[in-house]
Amino acid sequence: MRKKIVAGNWKMNLDYNEGLSLFSEVINMVKDEITGNQQAVVCSPYIHLHSLAQLAKGYTKVSVGAQNAHQAESGAYTGEISAKMIKSVGAEYVILGHSERRQYFGEDNALLAKKTDTALKNGLKPIFCIGETLQEREANQHLDIIKSQLVEGVFHLDEAQFVQLVIAYEPVWAIGTGVTASSGQAQEIHAFIRKEIAAKYGQAVAENTTILYGGSCNPKNAPELFACADIDGGLIGGASLKSRDFVDIVKVFN
Ligand code: G3P
Repeated sequence: MRKKIVAGNWKMNLDYNEGLSLFSEVINMVKDEITGNQQAVVCSPYIHLHSLAQLAKGYTKVSVGAQNAHQAESGAYTGEISAKMIKSVGAEYVILGHSERRQYFGEDNALLAKKTDTALKNGLKPIFCIGETLQEREANQHLDIIKSQLVEGVFHLDEAQFVQLVIAYEPVWAIGTGVTASSGQAQEIHAFIRKEIAAKYGQAVAENTTILYGGSCNPKNAPELFACADIDGGLIGGASLKSRDFVDIVKVFN
């Protein structure tokens, strides 16, 4: 039974105390509400990670993650953070390949394949992001783009490695715009992703892979999106910065 995950991506928001108070509110609101194969994940800036991981101890259904990790194990990379460091403070997940990393920091599939390898080697669960731009969709290239992001980013992994991944489909044109993909659009792409995974790793692996939707997901549209056969939860940006909204999205699976 594949996990149903609602992951918050705080991006570059919240100072230390703001982050702690938001996370404490979220834990208090969900601790008795998350059941079965559900998981709530909060992916914060690095400064919060250790404290959030400490707060999450004892709540098996609440996890903490980072938003990026360097591809090297360690070394002279001023300002960077390694997967080993992230693991050492108690984080379990790491977002890789977010479109903002691809766009602003030039991260391409080849680099993200290396980042994924290092994250897995250090015991982190990558939330690997894929998705097309508006231009690519309007040019009807979106399926090719998504397939290449999978093939070049993660399809080099063996089965034991791949099953550690969470995939997040985030149409770039829906991120932060308030323009959410329709449930039909999202389901079509999620089904395509699952089909590609099945072709590579077999039906059992595909059926057990969690595929999240991200892009202006909120408490109003989450129920319809999460009711789709191939949508297993969400990667939530803006709405994760408000405890009520984030928890309402987590509870959609209840
Ligand atoms: O990683 C999730 C994020 O990119 C989605 O952002 O604000 O559209 O929910 P938002």
